Amino acid sequence: MALTRRDLLMGAGAAGLAAGLPRTIRAQAGGAVLRMPPLLDATSSGAFDLVARAGETNFTGRDPSATWGFNNQTFLGPTLRLAADRAVAASVTNRLTEPFALHWHGLLVPGHADGGPHLPIAPDKTWAIELDINQPPATIWYHSHTHLRTADHVQKGLAGVIQLTDGRDDERGLPAEYGTDDLTLVIQDRSFDGRGRMVYDPGMRDEMMGFTGDVILVNGQVGARAVVPRGIVRLRLLNGSNARVYDLASRAGRSLHLVATDAGFLDRPAPLKTLRLAPGERAEVLIDFSDGASDVLVSGPNPNTGMMGGMMGGRGMMGGGIMDSAEEAGFDVLPIEVDSAPAARIDRLPESIGGKMPDLDTRNASRRDIALETGMGGMMRRGGNRHSINGQSFDMDRLNFSVQRGATEIWTIEGQMMAHPLHIHGVMFQVLSENGGPVSPRNRGWKDTVLVDGRAEIAGRFDQPATPDKPFMFHCHILEHEDGGMMGQFSVV
Ligand code: C2O
Ligand code: CU
Ligand code: CU
Repeated sequence: MALTRRDLLMGAGAAGLAAGLPRTIRAQAGGAVLRMPPLLDATSSGAFDLVARAGETNFTGRDPSATWGFNNQTFLGPTLRLAADRAVAASVTNRLTEPFALHWHGLLVPGHADGGPHLPIAPDKTWAIELDINQPPATIWYHSHTHLRTADHVQKGLAGVIQLTDGRDDERGLPAEYGTDDLTLVIQDRSFDGRGRMVYDPGMRDEMMGFTGDVILVNGQVGARAVVPRGIVRLRLLNGSNARVYDLASRAGRSLHLVATDAGFLDRPAPLKTLRLAPGERAEVLIDFSDGASDVLVSGPNPNTGMMGGMMGGRGMMGGGIMDSAEEAGFDVLPIEVDSAPAARIDRLPESIGGKMPDLDTRNASRRDIALETGMGGMMRRGGNRHSINGQSFDMDRLNFSVQRGATEIWTIEGQMMAHPLHIHGVMFQVLSENGGPVSPRNRGWKDTVLVDGRAEIAGRFDQPATPDKPFMFHCHILEHEDGGMMGQFSVV
């Protein structure tokens, strides 16, 4: 039995009833103040430790859930702050009862340091690895990348944010006070059972289209509200959901001034009314709260129900739950209140950020075609063989191709049936076109993940090496698609 919004609200003791959403919870004004993940600043120490452990997290005020986290967190991990231009000694210890691999999504490091599925950490073992970082400042992240188990592990909490910094955000005029005017927001959707416990039991529909939950978590919290100073506020947004695509906007109609995409800063802020954020993607936006009025970060319904949505109906048909009518409505992600007492550190939008926009020389680029295929043709295909790329499901023992180190390649990516967020390890890329037309504003900066809705052309220069036995992955970041075989691997030599 699924937990209803009403159950959850009453269980959590939150006041007031929000109208209009059958299942997706509306965060309540008067809820707890949102907590940031603890900040683990390794910029001067040059070293950090992550220890994965099992624990219990009470999301709902009812029964606790069995979850995984890092260090002192029972769900998710600390925000790692790392120097963007210096090596750091990473140590990852597994205190779980099963192996996991930990990938640095967005970090440009060689294949043997990348944390893909060929680098599992056994229980009670430590993976010590030097990360030789040298790339533009960016908000990136880390998450389990375990063969066939990524979707399950990320659901349980094996993920966290990384800030790559050069210490120059003051010069850029950017808010940079962690948790005050610089908020880290990990946005995820989950499902809960009748006792308030997180459940993840993907049915056929979830395996086909990706799992979507009906309760929104921000930094692992349900129904919390952010409190910000009266001025310019920076939101570092990570879509850490398995499959849900968000169309983020301000309820009050404020602009979201995009200042950074996956792999770093834009040259200048780009004002958006709606920001589409697919699984795996990050974006940094500035919002002007100088008028002091409170607001709500809202999302439109998941746009990614594709052709299969109609064909397969709702959960009621395939999953044995309730028809997911909430998909038809938008929902609240995070109420934001303005506290006028502290003086805002930044009170005007910077005109320029100074990031370098992508400008790859593609004249000698070689071309590659990538087709992302859902297993609709064979509903009976199971497990890691359900989905495929160019006709082949992911196989740990088969390299899909090899890229020449230092080469620039253009990939033409086509997605079947629905939009697929394609992610490539070990490279940042430029989006050249979308469906033969111009690139949408949110995809004009450097990217490592792009939502391919139809066809997209991207270009990247493959400078990081990867041997055939520790190759880079490229895959759909809908985690049920990734685990289901919509992934390939390549060496860079
Ligand atoms: Cu964020 Cu290969 O993953
Ligand atoms: Cu990655
Ligand atoms: Cu996909």
